[in-house]
Amino acid sequence: MAFVFLFALLLLSPHVYSSSVDRSVYIIHMDKSLMPNVFASHHHWYSGMVDSVKSADQIVSSGGRYRLPELIYSYHHAFHGFSAMLSEDELENLKSSPGFVSAHRDREVTIDTTHSTEFLNLSPVSGLWPLSEFGKDMIIGVLDTGIWPESPSFIDDGMNKTNPVKWKGICQEGQEFNTSLCNAKLIGAQYFNRAVSADNPDVNVSMNSARDTTGHGTHVAGIAAGNYVEDVSFFGYGHGIAKGVAPRAKLAVYKVNGWNLGSRAADVLAGIDKAVADGVDVISLSLNFGLSPLYEDLIAIAAFGAMEKGVFVSLSAGNRGPDFGEVTNGFPWGLTVAAGTIDRWFSGTLLLGNGVEIIGWTMYPVNAIINLPLLYNKNISACNSTELLSGFSNSIIICEDIGSFREQIGNVARSELEAGVFISDDESIIRSSYFPHPGVVISNKDAPTLLSYVESSSFPDASIKFQQTFLGTKPAPAVSSSSSRGPSASSPGTLKPDILAPGVLIISAYAPGQATAYIRPNVVLSSDYNAISGTSMSCPHASGIAALIKSVHPDWSPAAIQSAMMTTAYQLDNTQSLIKDMALNYEAATPLAIGSGHIDPNRAVDPGLIYDATPQDYVDYICSMNFTQTEIQTITRSSNYTCRNSTTDLNYPSFIAVYDGNEGGGTWLNRTFYRTVTNVGDGVTTYEANLMSPNGSFVTVSPNALTFERKYEKKNYTLSISYRIDENFGVTYGSLTWVENSGNHTVRSPIVVSPTASLDD
Ligand SMILES: *[C@@H]1O[C@H](CO)[C@@H](O)[C@H](O)[C@H]1NC(C)=O
Ligand SMILES: *[C@@H]1O[C@H](CO)[C@@H](O)[C@H](O)[C@H]1NC(C)=O
Ligand SMILES: *[C@@H]1O[C@H](CO)[C@@H](O)[C@H](O)[C@H]1NC(C)=O
Ligand SMILES: *[C@@H]1O[C@H](CO)[C@@H](O)[C@H](O)[C@H]1NC(C)=O
Ligand SMILES: *[C@@H]1O[C@H](CO)[C@@H](O)[C@H](O)[C@H]1NC(C)=O
Ligand SMILES: *[C@@H]1O[C@H](CO)[C@@H](O)[C@H](O)[C@H]1NC(C)=O
Ligand SMILES: *[C@@H]1O[C@H](CO)[C@@H](O)[C@H](O)[C@H]1NC(C)=O
Ligand SMILES: *[C@@H]1O[C@H](CO)[C@@H](O)[C@H](O)[C@H]1NC(C)=O
Ligand SMILES: *[C@@H]1O[C@H](CO)[C@@H](O)[C@H](O)[C@H]1NC(C)=O
Ligand SMILES: *[C@@H]1O[C@H](CO)[C@@H](O)[C@H](O)[C@H]1NC(C)=O
Ligand SMILES: *[C@@H]1O[C@H](CO)[C@@H](O)[C@H](O)[C@H]1NC(C)=O
Ligand SMILES: *[C@@H]1O[C@H](CO)[C@@H](O)[C@H](O)[C@H]1NC(C)=O
Repeated sequence: MAFVFLFALLLLSPHVYSSSVDRSVYIIHMDKSLMPNVFASHHHWYSGMVDSVKSADQIVSSGGRYRLPELIYSYHHAFHGFSAMLSEDELENLKSSPGFVSAHRDREVTIDTTHSTEFLNLSPVSGLWPLSEFGKDMIIGVLDTGIWPESPSFIDDGMNKTNPVKWKGICQEGQEFNTSLCNAKLIGAQYFNRAVSADNPDVNVSMNSARDTTGHGTHVAGIAAGNYVEDVSFFGYGHGIAKGVAPRAKLAVYKVNGWNLGSRAADVLAGIDKAVADGVDVISLSLNFGLSPLYEDLIAIAAFGAMEKGVFVSLSAGNRGPDFGEVTNGFPWGLTVAAGTIDRWFSGTLLLGNGVEIIGWTMYPVNAIINLPLLYNKNISACNSTELLSGFSNSIIICEDIGSFREQIGNVARSELEAGVFISDDESIIRSSYFPHPGVVISNKDAPTLLSYVESSSFPDASIKFQQTFLGTKPAPAVSSSSSRGPSASSPGTLKPDILAPGVLIISAYAPGQATAYIRPNVVLSSDYNAISGTSMSCPHASGIAALIKSVHPDWSPAAIQSAMMTTAYQLDNTQSLIKDMALNYEAATPLAIGSGHIDPNRAVDPGLIYDATPQDYVDYICSMNFTQTEIQTITRSSNYTCRNSTTDLNYPSFIAVYDGNEGGGTWLNRTFYRTVTNVGDGVTTYEANLMSPNGSFVTVSPNALTFERKYEKKNYTLSISYRIDENFGVTYGSLTWVENSGNHTVRSPIVVSPTASLDD
């Protein structure tokens, strides 16, 4: 129980500080042992400190409310210190007082629960959201595990009640699903399980309808196009307004996955076909069937058909990272999306008995403020044995960075110990909401502060504050270790993945009744909103953005929209240095992890130049892949296309040159790429090439300036790479950026040069 004193003294002095001084609430952490003798109590000490920082010129009476630098609370148990309303200057003065440990501004977090829209700089007052009217009347087809239609994220408040004329889909009746569950937000719901049922003739499919019994499809649909829902959080974390990337777009849901019998690509193919026939604008596919040649990859085949009909296809890159060559859905007629972090931190604050505060990570789902002895025993600090932990209780155990966090917290949860402090830098912890016991993860960097306190104090104790959310965490974005890396095994001539989008602990709608959190191993909690991670979550962000762009540019082809997203992506994180790779211990990420960079919706709507491609262009590329005529037709599904103009060189907005041993030139990897760019900016303009050559390569661009006389004019250029494979530079990276003379647009393409196809080194 914390003793809280409301400080009343200042109310006696009828002064008001000048309104020009901005004050905020700060929480000040103090070393209580350093209290000078002159004070009768800590409370007097703290209030004396606050009084001492008042400066005379601030005490002016202007009527109205009393707002002096003001002590708000003193804290004696939960932690040591006080909170006060202070200006920045007053805080500075306070810092020189004896006993001062640290201060931070108090945060009342009212933010976007799907904070990723804010992280994407989508603003209701300017940029892509208002330009696209929030995706109004676009239809996003989500092919996943179905939908929980009663979720508040799919109510149709504020939606146009008339369906777009092109819409031909239905709301299909089924088990626990009738047509009245569709509305002006959820305009379609259909299910596909004939293939999986055929494979299991003796078993009945359960939940034979579009209803989602796993939560995954509901989550993904909510990210792409969920409506606004206030007052949402994941057990107190990330509290705020939930909303999708395209909150006014309509959803057509195709349940093709998540059956009790498993899933089949044939059902997915049927779902994609139906979505295209129904008239969706964008298809969102957060699923894959592993690695296979293009002519056996039913997603690639179905996506080809969608692209042919002008439907944009957004795909998850897979969660098979961080090894090279594991990217799934890596074909060029779809956008392959990698997963990164956003600038949000779910925190637990560890408050040591000496007043020192350590901010760590927790997602423990219940608010509990504990004030307990810290237990640090070398013999059991690996926390790797329930047996050894069994003799201890009523304290917070410190678990050292030995062994797996998941195992450690499991052992502590099975013990009588009240809580744990886990020392770990394992970045996988911040991808998962699994936190079944009170506790906090602190970094190895902060561990000495904790351990020196424990070792120097005869009765070390601490408290932990839960359910805190911090924004502005740095560095962000960073690519998640589990996000699949290129190059694409099925399409090595295309650099994959294409782009990075938010995919770590994204909060979105969920099917109720599913396990979303635990207290001890045996208490299971469920919630209508869940925080989960993966490229399944990054893909629908890109789907929503594609819908927003298409609503502004309805005449753009899928390739043009994809190009706009890729060439405007950014490469610097919020510390202004290169986006980091969590799998490389936070070294710079390469295009094989993040493609062109992080998606930037407001820039993507106005890219300046685009790399366009027609269905025939993709056929010409497929023709170069040494497939048989039958294999080619399997992909194109039509004999209307011919292979007369076979080329490895698709007009793609990125470059990859892989040495395949058949160069003929011996030690040289030489490649020439032909590209055509279309001016989608207004009128007369000139762009100049800015080349960053990969190490060890000699690269030229010709011509190195492109002048356009009018909108939609096309210009060609070539990019030539020469690389001596015996110079041992390994896989190298560069870029070509077309910079408009006016400075208004930059159009960037990453370059990857690899002296080996396997990239195992
Ligand atoms: C609603 O959608 C219909 C069909 O697309 C369209 O004709 C109408 O203009 C839309 N209404 C509003 C208010 O946007
Ligand atoms: C559809 O299902 C809902 C909820 O189960 C129910 O309230 C409603 O009466 C049903 N409507 C029809 C037409 O069957
Ligand atoms: C499948 O459903 C049918 C019709 O409801 C029922 O007759 C049959 O017994 C069920 N089969 C199994 C294996 O549950
Ligand atoms: C650790 O184990 C050893 C051997 O069992 C024992 O002598 C020692 O007292 C233990 N240390 C602590 C801190 O419990
Ligand atoms: C626990 O970890 C310690 C330190 O790594 C090790 O010595 C011990 O054998 C481990 N015990 C078990 C049960 O795994
Ligand atoms: C192309 O396919 C033929 C026949 O399948 C095969 O002999 C040849 O080696 C292949 N060429 C390449 C470059 O893979
Ligand atoms: C093939 O071309 C014919 C004639 O141009 C056209 O009628 C038919 O729809 C095309 N088939 C496909 C699958 O595109
Ligand atoms: C192939 O290229 C030639 C000349 O460049 C052109 O005339 C012909 O139309 C092209 N064929 C196809 C199928 O694109
Ligand atoms: C590759 O490029 C290098 C440098 O431009 C050149 O010397 C060499 O002849 C080229 N090799 C082939 C096979 O074209
Ligand atoms: C290029 O090579 C130099 C020297 O080996 C190295 O210092 C530099 O980091 C490399 N640059 C890139 C982009 O790999
Ligand atoms: C640009 O390249 C395309 C395709 O290679 C070709 O058809 C076209 O004639 C070229 N345009 C110019 C101006 O060279
Ligand atoms: C560049 O942008 C500015 C501001 O939007 C605009 O006034 C100017 O006309 C643009 N210049 C060109 C060449 O498009």
